[in-house]
Amino acid sequence: MHTIRQMMKNNREWSERIRKENPGYLESISHSQKPEILWIGCSDARVGPDQLIGLPMGSVFVHRNVANVFATNDLNCLAVLEYAIDELKVPNIVVCGHYGCGGVNAALEHKGVNPVDLWLDQVRFVYNRYAEELNHLERSERANRLAELNVEAQVHNICRNTIIREAWKRGQQVNVIGVIYDIHDGLLKQLGIEFRSQEAWEACYGEAFSG
Ligand code: CO
Repeated sequence: MHTIRQMMKNNREWSERIRKENPGYLESISHSQKPEILWIGCSDARVGPDQLIGLPMGSVFVHRNVANVFATNDLNCLAVLEYAIDELKVPNIVVCGHYGCGGVNAALEHKGVNPVDLWLDQVRFVYNRYAEELNHLERSERANRLAELNVEAQVHNICRNTIIREAWKRGQQVNVIGVIYDIHDGLLKQLGIEFRSQEAWEACYGEAFSG
């Protein structure tokens, strides 16, 4: 219970501080949200976007799950994407993975039928696609490389989704990028994949990921 008491105390102090230092701020953002980023990240307790990217409240619309998967058959992922793109018109989508991801590690290990294993099958698909490259690496490098490839695969899952394709078709600005985070130095690294249009995405990877 100590942690919960601490949480409530911290919250009261934060509320007092922000209302004192910036009167009217909470009221000003209470009417609507206009986030600049849809963040798709891992549920891992160490990779919450608020601390990592230091943007003010209201800037980031967040979806997190085990191993930062954008599952094309998951109602939760689809609802988040639809609301972010069609209603909030969020201009940037950031898929953030992290090295040392327990979900990615588990995807390399065993395969069962409990919910987390079934969920991680989506990462195993990525592993299978790149097995030849990955099997040449030693264990920790393999997991780290799979974490990167998993981010790329989720970027592609987003770019080939109808919600994004329709948005691009009607001229809406949507920039989709992949980044990865290293807890050892606290730094985000861009993975060199960034798509602003259907044409750009298809030119790079559309063929490989179609069908
Ligand atoms: Co993780």
